[in-house]
Amino acid sequence: MAALALGQIWSRKLLPVPWLLWGLRGCASTNFKAADLQLQITKEPRKKPSPSDSLVFGKTFTDHMLMVEWNRKKGWGQPRIQPFQNLTLHPACSALHYSLQLFEGLKAYRGQDQQVRLFRPWLNMDRMLRTALRLCLPSFDKVELLECIRRLIEVDKAWVPRGSGTSLYVRPVLIGTEDSLGVSSASQALLFVILCPVGSYFPGDSVTPVSLLADPTFIRAWMGGVGDYKVGGNYGPTVLLQQEAQKKGCEQVLWLYGPDHQLTEVGTMNIFIYWTHEDGVLELVTPPLDGIILPGVVRQSLLDLAQTWGEFRVVERKITMKELLRALEEGRVREVFGSGTACQVCPVHRILYKDKHLHIPTMENGPELILRFQKELKAIQYGTKAHKWMLPV
Ligand SMILES: Cc1ncc(COP(=O)(O)O)c(C=O)c1O
Repeated sequence: MAALALGQIWSRKLLPVPWLLWGLRGCASTNFKAADLQLQITKEPRKKPSPSDSLVFGKTFTDHMLMVEWNRKKGWGQPRIQPFQNLTLHPACSALHYSLQLFEGLKAYRGQDQQVRLFRPWLNMDRMLRTALRLCLPSFDKVELLECIRRLIEVDKAWVPRGSGTSLYVRPVLIGTEDSLGVSSASQALLFVILCPVGSYFPGDSVTPVSLLADPTFIRAWMGGVGDYKVGGNYGPTVLLQQEAQKKGCEQVLWLYGPDHQLTEVGTMNIFIYWTHEDGVLELVTPPLDGIILPGVVRQSLLDLAQTWGEFRVVERKITMKELLRALEEGRVREVFGSGTACQVCPVHRILYKDKHLHIPTMENGPELILRFQKELKAIQYGTKAHKWMLPV
């Protein structure tokens, strides 16, 4: 045992010293550091929206943005907080041609004590790094990126709205900027973060239900694909079906998968059903993270909250349309809802499936669970107490 321990110590001593590794990688900096942040404050601050302005999602941007460039030879450059501005890209930029592109979405909230806090940003950093590696885009230090984002929000803190239900949406993006038409891993990349003040999704304490088009001929994600990564390529092709849903009088798309028409996601939200299962047990069910589901931060939070309450079974399991139809017929369905950063928890009251409108009794049932989740999340996000899910800015 002692000999093994000694052997381990020696083998550690024989590992190459960092400068040798540096030599091998051509001195490339594998991480950028928040301590190296360069700050350039705008000379032309723009007018901030007033509390009475209705903020359309993603149309208003703050005064500053974060930028960090990477290239294979030199690694990451110094991160910069600079005035919000257009990008200059080569027309052959690989993000534009081959979707070497990924993004994240998270929110910062202004608590009643005026302290601004980010909601579970560590989970977004994990998801972003996972997606970067999937696209062969450069790796980065999640802790350093989060600190850079925190500093950016600090600079634009006055843009975090004050009204009830409002927040600051944070959009980190990583793109390949290879200036060549070959399909290959990018030898150049750009990471940037922009911020948008956003209004309340549901005014007051109410929630408005949505209707869904469930058409199995369109598929959002498939096994072995990239549905569980937040890549831009997953979203562009969904716009057509969103229009199709609207033509048929529905607001969003319910994404089905496989010959058994599994329910997977709702628009850009994860899906939950609160029902009495066939075995007679009251449960909250959502599809498992089996490769076609985006691991949503709100999804995880609802599972965590429900698990701590311990009042009903909480399960990640495949759900099929056949099971839902039978549960509706037998009056076992209490609430169906989507979860996501934009709306937090969004009730579903109708599904158009095989030319039939299925009524979902979510609203007739309170919606008790949805309102409880909304209340609990609001208390954490806008609360004045420190909470392990909130990172103060
Ligand atoms: C396809 C998809 N599913 C689920 C979600 C919900 O994820 P989150 O709770 O992290 O916002 C999103 C939102 O980004 C999404 O795009």
